[in-house]
Amino acid sequence: MEKTQDEKRYEHTLGVTYTAAALAMRYDAPLENAELAGLLHDCAKCMDDNRKIAICEKHRIGMTELEKRNPFLLHAKVGSFLAMDTYKVHNPDIINAILNHTTGRPGMSLLEKIIFVADYIEPNRKQAPSLAEVRKLAFEDLDEALLKILSDTLEYLDASGPEIDPMTRKTYQYYLAEKQEKKREQNKEQNKEKNKEQQHTTEP
Ligand SMILES: [Fe+2]
Ligand SMILES: [Fe+2]
Repeated sequence: MEKTQDEKRYEHTLGVTYTAAALAMRYDAPLENAELAGLLHDCAKCMDDNRKIAICEKHRIGMTELEKRNPFLLHAKVGSFLAMDTYKVHNPDIINAILNHTTGRPGMSLLEKIIFVADYIEPNRKQAPSLAEVRKLAFEDLDEALLKILSDTLEYLDASGPEIDPMTRKTYQYYLAEKQEKKREQNKEQNKEKNKEQQHTTEP
């Protein structure tokens, strides 16, 4: 990885790798998978845009119009291809973690969430909004950290103007709905308990 990345990107890669390992320890995910996904997640980041497009064309990797206009967005797709083709990684969870590390997706696995969050909070990141809060949250509640990163990213991209990959919004809406559903279920359970207690105290 050191040979294919500039110094800054290599430092970031190492940061994501050990942050992913720490999160894997916290949430009981396979350590080696977290490290390998962290190490490879940006393996196509320093590649020339034309080369990324050429790889997609040669290997029939679908590109959206948005990706064609902003080829830097292709680094996750091309990276997951290189992980299989060049680095001979065939674990689908690792491949998905690389593929979805920039936008997330509805129904992410634990490893996908770990890489997504590690990419945002690793120690070399300096400018992301609410960084201190998200770093703390990441080790308390991974889903809350994920949601906060997605909402901050959407807010930042909305304000700064660049085109947003619609998958980022889709992922945000999915996890927001999941959180609301969990809350509804919790409230239902609490009400059931309350009703039981009331019945108990009013019984003769
Ligand atoms: Fe990336
Ligand atoms: Fe990254």
